[in-house]
Amino acid sequence: MSRLGSEGEDVIGRWSEEKLDLLAKYLKAYSVIMNEQKKSWLRAYYYIDAFAGSVRPRAKEDEQRYIDGSPLRALQTEPQFDGYWFVDVSQQRVERVEELRAEFSDCVINIRQGNCNEILCNEIAPQIPYSSKRRAFVFLDPYGLQVDWETVRELANTKTCDIFVNFSVMGVTRLLPRDQNPEPEVIERLSKVMGSTNWITEIYRELPEIQLDLFGNPTEPTSSRDTIQAEWLASLYTKQLQALFPHVSRPVLMRNSTNSVLYALCLASHKQTAIKITNQIFDRYERLRDLGR
Ligand SMILES: C[S@@+](CC[C@H](N)C(=O)[O-])C[C@H]1O[C@@H](n2cnc3c(N)ncnc32)[C@H](O)[C@@H]1O
Repeated sequence: MSRLGSEGEDVIGRWSEEKLDLLAKYLKAYSVIMNEQKKSWLRAYYYIDAFAGSVRPRAKEDEQRYIDGSPLRALQTEPQFDGYWFVDVSQQRVERVEELRAEFSDCVINIRQGNCNEILCNEIAPQIPYSSKRRAFVFLDPYGLQVDWETVRELANTKTCDIFVNFSVMGVTRLLPRDQNPEPEVIERLSKVMGSTNWITEIYRELPEIQLDLFGNPTEPTSSRDTIQAEWLASLYTKQLQALFPHVSRPVLMRNSTNSVLYALCLASHKQTAIKITNQIFDRYERLRDLGR
């Protein structure tokens, strides 16, 4: 998990750095392929970072070490994209991103401060309709449950945007109590993020033998759920994505230093080749990670 350093800086764990390495590997492959397509039908392709972050976060295990965050990974990708969009809700972070204009003066950089759901749906997606012969790669990397399902749907509907999502597994499980049904607000919140909530009622079971106290309130839990397996939740999310995108990669689980699953990273695309490449990158990452254990 990352924590906030000074002046909008992030301090990030090993797994976040691995996420950025996976992003950089895929961006390289994507950009080489898209650049080739520009020789025929493609007019332009863009990188869109909906949660741009602090640009140069520090490493948790050595706070003197700076890591290149996602905007830098994208700007360093060769061949270059035709344009870059960076969005963040935080003014301080947007100011950090602004500083990149001088360093990458040959890149076309668009920066917006605000809620990325609104900016993606109202401003960016309408600029890349299918008829534009333009394509975009969208990185969705929230801390928690900030990506609305309606935004994912909107991006899928363009048929021009592929999305690389860092889905917060822990953000979802944390909201679901073990010994009682979730409150309606929780169900509503999860519906906003996952697009469906049928699965929530399925994981809870009613318990028999309700004991009541003097006031008629249950003293024992009335319903309960088993431990939610991260693999199951991640594949539930990728199945949801399959309803919107023709091709979806398998999820790769990102774990913290105590081996708890925090996020699931996956790609949803309009191209089968993109999924093949992503799955290969994920396979290699997991093999090396397992060797290192
Ligand atoms: C995990 S960090 C992003 C890290 C960055 N992608 C990287 O890899 O270097 C999440 C960022 O999202 C921003 N944020 C949170 N909610 C947001 C929203 N609704 N729209 C846009 N940005 C948001 C936070 O300010 C924070 O900078």
